[in-house]
Amino acid sequence: MSATTETLGARGASRGARRRIGVGVIGFGWLGQAHSRSLLRIPTLFADRDFDTELVVCGDTLPERRDDAVRSFGFARSTGDWRAVVDDPSVDVVFIAAPNMLHVQLVEAAAAAGKHVFCEKPVGGTPEQTVRAEKAARDAGVISGVGYNYRWAPLVRYARQLIADGTLGEITNYRGRFFSMYGSDPLGVLSWRFLVDQAGYGVTTDLMSHSVDLAHMLLGPIGRVVGTTETFITERPVPGAAGSHYGRGRPEDPKAAVTNEDYAGMLCEFASGVRGTFEASRSMVGPESQMAFEVYGTKGALGWNLEKLNELQLYLVEDEAHTGYRTVFGGDRFPYHGNFVPGSANGIGFEDLVVIEDYEFCRSVAAGREHEPGFADAVDWVSVQAALLRSAGSGHWEDVVSLRED
Ligand SMILES: NC(=O)c1ccc[n+]([C@@H]2O[C@H](COP(=O)([O-])OP(=O)(O)OC[C@H]3O[C@@H](n4cnc5c(N)ncnc54)[C@H](O)[C@@H]3O)[C@@H](O)[C@H]2O)c1
Repeated sequence: MSATTETLGARGASRGARRRIGVGVIGFGWLGQAHSRSLLRIPTLFADRDFDTELVVCGDTLPERRDDAVRSFGFARSTGDWRAVVDDPSVDVVFIAAPNMLHVQLVEAAAAAGKHVFCEKPVGGTPEQTVRAEKAARDAGVISGVGYNYRWAPLVRYARQLIADGTLGEITNYRGRFFSMYGSDPLGVLSWRFLVDQAGYGVTTDLMSHSVDLAHMLLGPIGRVVGTTETFITERPVPGAAGSHYGRGRPEDPKAAVTNEDYAGMLCEFASGVRGTFEASRSMVGPESQMAFEVYGTKGALGWNLEKLNELQLYLVEDEAHTGYRTVFGGDRFPYHGNFVPGSANGIGFEDLVVIEDYEFCRSVAAGREHEPGFADAVDWVSVQAALLRSAGSGHWEDVVSLRED
């Protein structure tokens, strides 16, 4: 466990003792870098924090990424062997941002070494792995966090408030979707995301996990589902060593098979009686990054879409003179927004949500308290995923059986 240290040169009024949190990062691609950058930004954005993080060691198999971690991000050291991250005595928290099928062994090793663990969603590539990861963290008594970053969008927090305080009346139905175009080009390379042995399942794991997690936060558990999955682009060009899912091959490149699903859709009944639909796709053309939801109640409705993350669409029945949706702009009157920009309609961005989630996770670690969303919340999603996959096989409605072990 880390020692309490006095903070030097802190900005703002709160200059008391702050908890030092030594950080190790495993996987230094998109999200490993996003978390590292976010941790570096926290001191300038959250003056009232009660911790200070230190980037201790970065683990990645690619030497150029390791070099960048030290030279550009200021990690004290880097390694090609992830075990050196979890075993480092000056690391208190391990951030895991490696491909999904590596998650569970990394979580188990970090938890066994007594490190708190933040793992990118979905925490493993299969429901069984997520359950294992949750058990490992619980048995070791370490704090877990999971990268459901859309939970932290200021206008999503406001939507939750409008649902909870009854402004929308009784909720009747819900639509969740995550439509991305990252796999819409058949020449998009066969990165790890398209391979069951590296990613686990496809869009159910990668995208629908976000959609259903958000619905869980807003409306509670789902009781039963009926769903379907499909792979529309069955082979792709084999990438070079550092190819990401946004990379593009050439027509003459050798190709190999896609081994997980491009599309998933499901109809569901929430335990509360709300009816809902969810869809996720990575191969369709049109919506580029629509992580979006709509909520319909007896007194109003609302909708939010990552493509316009600083706007909430709101309809209120009581406003009889002006029917139709209005646009509520993001601004500093909503949670966290003012930490980034003052006023109204001055927007924040995708990575700012990562800053907020890292700030909140580190706060939980500094306070020594359980964090939400943690691995138990990840298990709630895979419980729904397991029912969806059963339904895609059986063609029938399937009950959601909770895989939580507590
Ligand atoms: N929350 C979000 O919005 C969001 C967005 C994107 C990705 N993710 C999640 O983040 C994780 C990583 O995704 P990404 O897009 O950053 O992937 P990426 O391919 O950009 O990065 C993965 C990194 O892991 C490294 N790696 C592979 N094997 C390794 C090993 N054995 N040891 C150490 N490093 C290894 C790779 O070299 C690469 O640098 C995934 O679990 C994904 O689901 C979450």
